[in-house]
Amino acid sequence: MQQRIMVLTGAGMSAESGIKTFRDNDGLWNNYRVEEVATPEAWAANMEIVLEFYNQRRKQLLECSPNPAHFALVQLEDKYDVRIITQNVDDLHERAGSSNVLHLHGELKKVRSTADPQLVFELDGWELKAGDTCPKGSQLRPHIVWFGEAVPNITVASEIAATADILIVIGTSMQVYPAAGLVHYAPHESTKYYIDPAAADNSMLAKLTVIREKAGKAVPELVEILLS
Ligand code: OAD
Repeated sequence: MQQRIMVLTGAGMSAESGIKTFRDNDGLWNNYRVEEVATPEAWAANMEIVLEFYNQRRKQLLECSPNPAHFALVQLEDKYDVRIITQNVDDLHERAGSSNVLHLHGELKKVRSTADPQLVFELDGWELKAGDTCPKGSQLRPHIVWFGEAVPNITVASEIAATADILIVIGTSMQVYPAAGLVHYAPHESTKYYIDPAAADNSMLAKLTVIREKAGKAVPELVEILLS
């Protein structure tokens, strides 16, 4: 039977595709912290700002392409049962060709009804406007998990983590839960790697092999080793 690899990715995975991470540099957007626009409270208080934040990110995504790290993960499927669990809302894993991608924090290209969370749609183009409604007549919102909202896919993600033979964590500051807690579900005997140029030095890392390099270089190198 194929060994199972779980890959947990964060914003650093897409950094070399030109998508800004959340907490590097000033981490601000128009002087707002992400925690100030990615919340249900922000949506209730100032829908236009929230729409604009995601419209800009969606527009930028159209100009970005997968980088060598995304493509390297696709190659792993030649030998392994690969499950990608991403905190990213971009579609770069899918565009690179990965078959099994689970989005923990939603998907930028999708929108959903504010009246019925089951009504999810692909957005044509990049712009969602105030007044754009679902067939039930309710405003559409970004299909994003905001701070303070439940993470519906965390249960299936933890089940995948619990069955992983190999865990590869890429480009995440591991500051946002419950995603960051997924590493603790991986079996004790599994092999664990953490690729991040600024990987924090804390006790959790003791159980991970830390590779302090950019994903675009380190992921293809690790994939080559795992395939050899
Ligand atoms: P962060 O911005 O917190 O962390 C990005 C990580 O990527 C940092 O640890 C960087 O060192 C690393 N990094 C930067 N460039 C890299 C490169 N070229 N290769 C590899 N790593 C690199 O982003 P996340 O951990 O993904 O949630 O943030 C988690 C969640 O917080 C996001 O999904 C988002 C955010 O608020 C929501 O929007 C709900």
